[in-house]
Amino acid sequence: MTMASEVHLKIDGIAVTVPTGTLLVEAAKQAQKHIPVYCYHEKLGPAGLCRVCLVEVEGMPKLQIGCNTVATEGMVVHTQNAKVDDGRRAILEFLLLNHPLDCPICDKGGECDLQDYVMAYGQDSSRVIDGKESKPKAVDLGPTIVLDEERCIVCQRCVRFDELITHERSLVVKDRGAHDIIATATDQPYVSQFSGNVTELCPVGALTSKTYRFLSRKWDNHRAVGSCAQCSVGCGINVDVRQGAITRTMSIPEDVTSDGWLCDRGRYVISFGDDQRRLRTPLYRHREQLVQVTWDDAIGLWAQALQASASPQRVAALGGGRLMNAEILQLQALFRSFGTPHLDWRVGRSQQAGAGRATASLAELDRAQAIIVVGVPPSQSAPVLDLAIRKAVFRHKAQLISVGPFGAGSSVPQQRAARIDEVAGLLPDGTERIVFVWDGIDPQLGREIANLRTQWSTHGRSAGVLVATTLSNAWGAEALGMHPSFGPGYQPLASSGLDTAGIFAAGRAGELDVLSFHGANPVLTWHDASIVREALARIPFVVATDLFLTQTSELATLVLPVASAFERNGTMTNLFGQARPIEAGLPVPDGALSDSEVLVALAQALKIALPDAASLTSLEERALEAARIAPLDCGAEQLAGRRLAPDRPGLQLALAANVFAGGGTTAHDTRIEALRPLPTATLEPATAQRLGFVAGTLVDLHAGAASVKNLTLRLDASLAPDTIALVADLPQAPANLLFGSEPLRLEATRVLEEVAA
Ligand code: SF4
Ligand code: SF4
Ligand code: FES
Repeated sequence: MTMASEVHLKIDGIAVTVPTGTLLVEAAKQAQKHIPVYCYHEKLGPAGLCRVCLVEVEGMPKLQIGCNTVATEGMVVHTQNAKVDDGRRAILEFLLLNHPLDCPICDKGGECDLQDYVMAYGQDSSRVIDGKESKPKAVDLGPTIVLDEERCIVCQRCVRFDELITHERSLVVKDRGAHDIIATATDQPYVSQFSGNVTELCPVGALTSKTYRFLSRKWDNHRAVGSCAQCSVGCGINVDVRQGAITRTMSIPEDVTSDGWLCDRGRYVISFGDDQRRLRTPLYRHREQLVQVTWDDAIGLWAQALQASASPQRVAALGGGRLMNAEILQLQALFRSFGTPHLDWRVGRSQQAGAGRATASLAELDRAQAIIVVGVPPSQSAPVLDLAIRKAVFRHKAQLISVGPFGAGSSVPQQRAARIDEVAGLLPDGTERIVFVWDGIDPQLGREIANLRTQWSTHGRSAGVLVATTLSNAWGAEALGMHPSFGPGYQPLASSGLDTAGIFAAGRAGELDVLSFHGANPVLTWHDASIVREALARIPFVVATDLFLTQTSELATLVLPVASAFERNGTMTNLFGQARPIEAGLPVPDGALSDSEVLVALAQALKIALPDAASLTSLEERALEAARIAPLDCGAEQLAGRRLAPDRPGLQLALAANVFAGGGTTAHDTRIEALRPLPTATLEPATAQRLGFVAGTLVDLHAGAASVKNLTLRLDASLAPDTIALVADLPQAPANLLFGSEPLRLEATRVLEEVAA
């Protein structure tokens, strides 16, 4: 007998039909009936711990838990009647035995499921005459989270998130009965890229974010709904604002791109906009000093410099990977109309990303039989993509292979390949659906990925490619024309301009008059800081649009204060090629302009007509559509960019990404001090032993005359041998000082006492 695919039942008198296997808690939603839950969560499944979800099922002698009772044919269910209400009342009375009634000072007040269900189903007064169990409050669980042990109802959502979603297994329930508490298994701080999600999952005020404590009530927040602009994933995000400041960001549970999760960068890097170092007025370099000027003067000076240039060939513009799609279209239209062909978005290490190559969807990643992570893994650069990979590996049994110096993430079982040509040998017969997740840094690897895709396609294997970076709109910047060889939609240009490396070379050779950076900080992010500095020193007029004085903008001739992504409306294109909406939660601060307003003002000064808002919208749609179907591949020579890193003998330098590194927003967000990476150098243990170093040693790393000093040595068994890893884009230890072919030399300065002890 085959099992029917659907069952029919009645819930509170309403007939519903649901797929076989549906839990009553889900079936009730179809009848628009609400069953209260604490431990159940649709992404974590049932746990049967709290019993608040009691329902009556006709024919069954006792009340049943709706979260773990499967709907069956002909079932008659009551989610609300006197018997159910009595049962729930008893459960709530039990949960309140030791729960403190400190709602007035609890951050969850107003959005707490315990508060709500006690109001809906509980009793008016307590029958308890004994004192409540007292437990520690405001326990520091880690850098981001505070635990109030008294408020915990031990639903274990946090523990199950840590086990079933991140697979990190650091949270546990300790002790028993009235004494049970949430803690870390090792008694070490709770550290996870995804820690903030537990504050949303916690149905009560037991887990709260340090950054949101006592900041606002839910009803005092105004909410903007959009997407996170802090890496290439573009997770759906709610931005809560009170009195002109962002109080918190929250996930959007139904957002498909993020699966309803946020990483801690998207959740906690929100306060930089209020930092007192934020630029509020244009600055112009006069006698070696940056002095304040008006916007009219600033735009006039820029226009004058452009018009005074001997030729548009002596003008270049870089950046765009952090702009909105429409702003990118304006940027490239303005400079192309002016006549300059030298445009490029690739101001960081990623030399190649974009539409023609990002040929995988989230669904393909989810269904992949094998996922091949090449280079810097998304666990370092685009965390929520890494969660999607973990889901594919743990739930759908995808095989994970990592290629390069780093593992794909410590909590995920994986195979390691030193080189990409070893990958094919690791794939079992019958592997047909493959997705590469590539960092886009080394074009040679891009070509090898392209070759494998071509070879495999003739054997019935499909292989998509996703390019994951910390840059929010790399895909859009390239697809919309900030590229020296392509206009919007990968329209080939009659002749190519200079790419970023060529622009810096021309600058150093004295062949450029004006260079502008648009949301870019290449002194920190480009492979070789000295090349950028030398170029900037020789270009007479350098413009930087930015929020802060960064390592690059502080060297500019003209610095223009612009709006952050929280202050603009528009769209950015994520690594899946989806145009993600960004909604301004805040107005543009006094003294700053949006990038779009800056470009329009410059265009007016130059008498260049830019497309109006309506044309930009249709241009964007057409260009993105053309980009999605562009017959390009990561092997395409024009797109492939240059391999910038020369070969180096001996110890190899590997640059890790970190979403909390950088010289802009994260460096100016004082509320995330504890999350910023420290200057470290990492070695694989056997390599460290061979070189005679121990963990905790303070070291300097030299390459020729250049050095990065005061790095604390760490050991990591997942790092490749004979490699030393530094965090890229770290202002206090800029790894891009060490670029080149000179051998690396590691020198101990002292062993830190606390580690040595
Ligand atoms: S801390 Fe919150 S989520 Fe974790 S078990 Fe307690 S009540 Fe549940
Ligand atoms: S993964 Fe990226 S887009 Fe998503 S929340 Fe984190 S930083 Fe934002
Ligand atoms: S929600 Fe059903 S037992 Fe907790």
